[in-house]
Amino acid sequence: MFNHVLSAWLQAQVPGVAEHRIANIFKPLATPAESERTAAYLVLAIAAGIFLVVASLLVYTILRFRRRPGESELQEPPQVYGSNQIEAAWTVIPILIVFVLIGVSARVIAAIENASPPPQMLKIELIGHQWWWEVRYPDYGLVTANEIHVPVSSDGKRATYLELTSMDVIHSFWVPQLAGKTDLIPNRINYTWIDPREAGVYVGNCAEYCGTQHANMLLRVIAQKQADFEAWLAEQKKPANEDPQASQAKAAFGSLSCVNCHMIRGTQAVGKFGPDLTHLMSRQTLGAGVLANTAQNLRAWVNDPQESKPGCFMPSMKLTDPQLDQVVSYLQSLK
Ligand code: CUA
Repeated sequence: MFNHVLSAWLQAQVPGVAEHRIANIFKPLATPAESERTAAYLVLAIAAGIFLVVASLLVYTILRFRRRPGESELQEPPQVYGSNQIEAAWTVIPILIVFVLIGVSARVIAAIENASPPPQMLKIELIGHQWWWEVRYPDYGLVTANEIHVPVSSDGKRATYLELTSMDVIHSFWVPQLAGKTDLIPNRINYTWIDPREAGVYVGNCAEYCGTQHANMLLRVIAQKQADFEAWLAEQKKPANEDPQASQAKAAFGSLSCVNCHMIRGTQAVGKFGPDLTHLMSRQTLGAGVLANTAQNLRAWVNDPQESKPGCFMPSMKLTDPQLDQVVSYLQSLK
């Protein structure tokens, strides 16, 4: 129900952008996801073949050897065992099948891991936190959260390389239409890459249980045409918007302890524990995908994040109504 509301809202926000909101591994739109689908089809076909053989033999046996009228309950069927040929067959054939499956998987994994980056590649550092994603663009000095903007690779010559690590526990990056799961592990860097072929929003999520709000650690990859992506970069590179009308609200925000956890570039808010809010209003969701980023939701979120994301590390600041109004109006000026 909530997802439908969110989808409808998003459709209204990004008109004309083809959305790929169904996290479907069978509809890949990037190279790694595509090679994984091919491998998945082969594994499914082999498994389906085994299922058919086993199920047919089972049905045949049940029908052919059922007890018929007049047969004694004590009568045993003929006992056949010790046939070397049969035992060799049912040992060797499964081993061969398992080796085929291992070979197929290993080949796909190696092909994805060893792919050499194209000359035009974007580097992103993705850092897992309980329960949100920090997204850094080291070549541009940018930091954002929960939404990864990347250029689309319609010519197949662009790719985004992700360096994955974690600040706390193990998380896992998974955007089914773009690439399979890769873990984010503290004190270690893992790599994966994506080359989305169509512009749009690709949804993903954390795929490794990481605590209470694991299920609300959602991720969006927003693939944009080169020009749109560059426009986004240019906007994000700017320091926080200084709206003269929001100066009072800004001062009010600055006096609260929000600034100890959040960064707003160009202001006294230099915290690093929570998401960077410099361009908060450019994001589609709040709380790593739990709420659509509307004025009403923003107010509810700031008032008490525990309402929509119980257990998350942002506490309710117990703000008074006027304080809440000021904080929200300042945050809304952060375009
Ligand atoms: Cu992060 Cu599950």
